[in-house]
Amino acid sequence: MTSRCLEISGLTVRTMCDGRERELVSGVDLALEGGEVLALVGASGSGKSMTCAAALDVLPPGTWRAGGTVELDGQVRTAREVRGAYVATILQNPRSAFNPVRTMRSHAHETLRALGMGRSGRNARVEAAMIDAGLEDVPRILALHPFEMSGGMLQRMMVALALMSEAPFLFADEPTTDLDLIVQREILDLLERLKKTRGLGILLVTHDMGVVARLADRVAVMDAGRIVETGPVMDVFHRPAHPTTRRLVDAHLSLYPTLSPAEPAT
Ligand SMILES: Nc1ncnc2c1ncn2[C@@H]1O[C@H](COP(=O)(O)OP(=O)(O)OP(=O)(O)O)[C@@H](O)[C@H]1O
Ligand SMILES: [Mg+2]
Repeated sequence: MTSRCLEISGLTVRTMCDGRERELVSGVDLALEGGEVLALVGASGSGKSMTCAAALDVLPPGTWRAGGTVELDGQVRTAREVRGAYVATILQNPRSAFNPVRTMRSHAHETLRALGMGRSGRNARVEAAMIDAGLEDVPRILALHPFEMSGGMLQRMMVALALMSEAPFLFADEPTTDLDLIVQREILDLLERLKKTRGLGILLVTHDMGVVARLADRVAVMDAGRIVETGPVMDVFHRPAHPTTRRLVDAHLSLYPTLSPAEPAT
């Protein structure tokens, strides 16, 4: 397996506010390798979701990418090229990502059609991705509508749809926030396994420093649209350099005093 590299440089997002331009994301640089989890953390509103959306050119109306490039293995790519083929995404609320009147089969085939895959080979790709995402009973699940599935099953199906693209990178924006604790752990286990078995590079947006301790190799900390600190997870926990990082770590340790990367949650 050759190691892949995704590099975001100088990413900048703006909006209009009271007749003036306002910068929401300012010159963000991030590098992500295949087989690693980079956690993107920071207070609410610091620009984590905007960063992911800007890299893939799926920003909300009224905001725009004012600068920045995305390189894959050293080559600049358009967001259109990056989206789907190189970077798959999973989001916070899986239920809202599915069309309520369509089955999982319909979603899976739509995903493969959008990727330009012909009919032959689709079933095998769908089955392999679903099994890898922990959805073993493939024919039964493909016949289900979103309302017939739990949040955990839907999030596994989101992961399966991401795997169907065979993209080497995954952007996961708070993928466990809306799930109960047991399912959260199952999804984190799944992401960890996919990092190892598929060599997936994962950009994991989270508020939860426990999740960072458990899963991330490196951490990037955002504050007011900028990356203020990046480093290996151990360094960031034990020697936070920036006040924002110290606040995040202190807030976490005040809730879970014994939790650190050296003593992962079980
Ligand atoms: N559609 C929009 N138009 C204009 N500004 C927006 C829009 N959506 C978000 N913002 C602003 O962009 C900034 C960054 O928001 P973003 O959603 O990236 O934060 P975040 O770090 O993901 O926060 P959270 O942890 O709450 O998800 C915030 O100031 C937010 O108010
Ligand atoms: Mg967000």
